[in-house]
Amino acid sequence: MEDPALQAILIHDKSLPGKIAEGSEARDLLDQQILVLGAQLVNQLHILLKTVRIHDRTNAAVNQVVDATVTTVKTLARDNPVVIRLQNDFLYLGDAHLKMGSQQVAIFLEFIDSLNARGIGAISFSAEMQEVDLREFAYRFISVDPATCTFDDLKRQLKEGEIHGIDIEEATSLMIRVGQKNKQLKNLAKQLYVKAVAAVGEVLQSVREGRAPNFRQAKRVVQNMVDVILQDEPTLLGLTTLRCYDEYTHNHSVNVSLLSVALGNRAGYPREALVDLGLAALFHDLGKTSIPQDLLNKSEEFTDEEWEKLRIHATLGVINLVRLRGLTNLPGRMAAAAFEHHLNYDLSGYPTLSMPWELSLTGRILMVADCYDSMTSSRVYRRDPIAPNKVLTMMFAKSGILYDPVLLKLFVNCVGIIPIGCLALLDSHELAVVIRPSANRQTAARPCVKLISDRSGNPIDGPEVDLAEKDPDGRFKCSVVRLVDNTEYRFDTGRYFA
Ligand SMILES: [Fe+2]
Ligand SMILES: [Fe+2]
Repeated sequence: MEDPALQAILIHDKSLPGKIAEGSEARDLLDQQILVLGAQLVNQLHILLKTVRIHDRTNAAVNQVVDATVTTVKTLARDNPVVIRLQNDFLYLGDAHLKMGSQQVAIFLEFIDSLNARGIGAISFSAEMQEVDLREFAYRFISVDPATCTFDDLKRQLKEGEIHGIDIEEATSLMIRVGQKNKQLKNLAKQLYVKAVAAVGEVLQSVREGRAPNFRQAKRVVQNMVDVILQDEPTLLGLTTLRCYDEYTHNHSVNVSLLSVALGNRAGYPREALVDLGLAALFHDLGKTSIPQDLLNKSEEFTDEEWEKLRIHATLGVINLVRLRGLTNLPGRMAAAAFEHHLNYDLSGYPTLSMPWELSLTGRILMVADCYDSMTSSRVYRRDPIAPNKVLTMMFAKSGILYDPVLLKLFVNCVGIIPIGCLALLDSHELAVVIRPSANRQTAARPCVKLISDRSGNPIDGPEVDLAEKDPDGRFKCSVVRLVDNTEYRFDTGRYFA
C-alpha cells in the first residue's frame, strides 16, 4: 500500500498538490495516495503507542517507529499541520474520510478506542515536530489512565513535557454519543461485521492462492450474526449501509449475508437453517475469485466480451465449491446460492439453462438480497449508487419477473418502505436518517429516525424519534415531507450506524 516513490516526490516538492488541478485524474491519484499515507500514519501511531507500553525511551524499537512516523508526518505536513480527526467513530485526515482495508480494521478500531477513552477529537502534527517531541508525546499519552484522568489532565501532561508541534483537541458535543446500552449492542454488531469482513477476506484469499479455505471461522461469525439478528435486526441491517471498506466484494458479501438472514428469518427459517443460509450467502460470489482482479476493478464500461467473462462467476462458484469441499460434502444451499443468484425469478438471467429448472428458496432469497445491496452500493461494476427507496421501487416494478413477489414483500418488512439508511426531510424542517422500520405495519411510512440537523440546517447529534408516535391530542408529532437523495449529495448515512 505504501508508495515510496510518491513519498519521495512529496518530500521533494511539497507544493505539488497546489500545482495539480482539482478534479483532474492526476489530482485524484495524488489525493488517493495522500489518504494511503494518512492510513499509514494511523498504523504507525498505533504501533508507537503499543511499543512504548513495553519498552523504555532508549529502546531501538521505539526509535525506529518514531523515525518512521516523523517521516510520514513531514511528508504529509506542508504549510498546515496534519490533522487526524475522529468523528462519529470514523477517522479523517483533515476533511477526508480515511478508509480502512480489512487488514487495518482492528488497528483503526483500537486507535479510535484510545482516542475516545481520552476524550480526544483530533490530534495535529506540524512539520516542526521532532523525534524527541513524538517520543515524549507517546509516553505521556499512555501514562494518562483514561479511567481516572480527563482530557485536561492529558493536555496538562503534554504542556509539562514541553512537546512542540503536536496538539490535541477535545471531542465536541457534535460527536455522536449514544446511550451506554445502545452503544454496547452497536459495538457488538460492529465487531461482528468487522469479523465477518475479515473471515470473507481470508477465505477468498485462500481460494485465490489455491489453499484450502477454513470455513469454520466464517461459520462462527455467521452464527453470532444470526443471534444478533434474532434479537435486534435493525442494528445489524443498519451496518449494511456502511461503505467504509475498500474491498467491495468483502463488504458486499457480508451485506448480502445479513440481508438474506433477515429475509430468511421473515420467511420462517429456524435458527440452524438461517446459519446455513447466511454462510451460503456469504460466499455467493466465490466464483469471482477465478476472475482476474483487473477485470473486476475495471473503471470503464465493460465490453460484451468482458460481460461474458464476468457472467461465468455463477458457474465458477459451484465448480470452486465442489473442488474445495468435495461433491458429497457440499451443502446444497451453498451451491444454490452461487449458481442461482443471477438466474432471475423467471429464469431469464444467467447462467443460461438448457433444461427445466426449479429455483430453490435460497436462490430466490439471494436474488433479492444481492440485487438490493448491489444497487444501493456504489462499487458494483462501478455504477453510481441508487437511493434505497428508489431501489425498492425499481425492484417492485419487476416483482414476479425478476424477484419472487412474496419474498419481495417480506423484504420490505426488513428494510422498511422508507428503507434504513434513507435521508428524510421532516415537516419540522429537520433532517433525519432512517434507523429502523416502523414496528407496526399500519404505520409503515413512519419509521424511527435519528435527527441529524436542526431547522436551520446545522448538524446536530439529535435524538432518535419514532415518527409513528402521537402527541396527547392524537396527532403525529412529525412526518416525512420528502426523501432527500443521499447518493446524489454523496452523503454517507452509513456513519450513523457505526
Ligand atoms: Fe454475483
Ligand atoms: Fe453479489
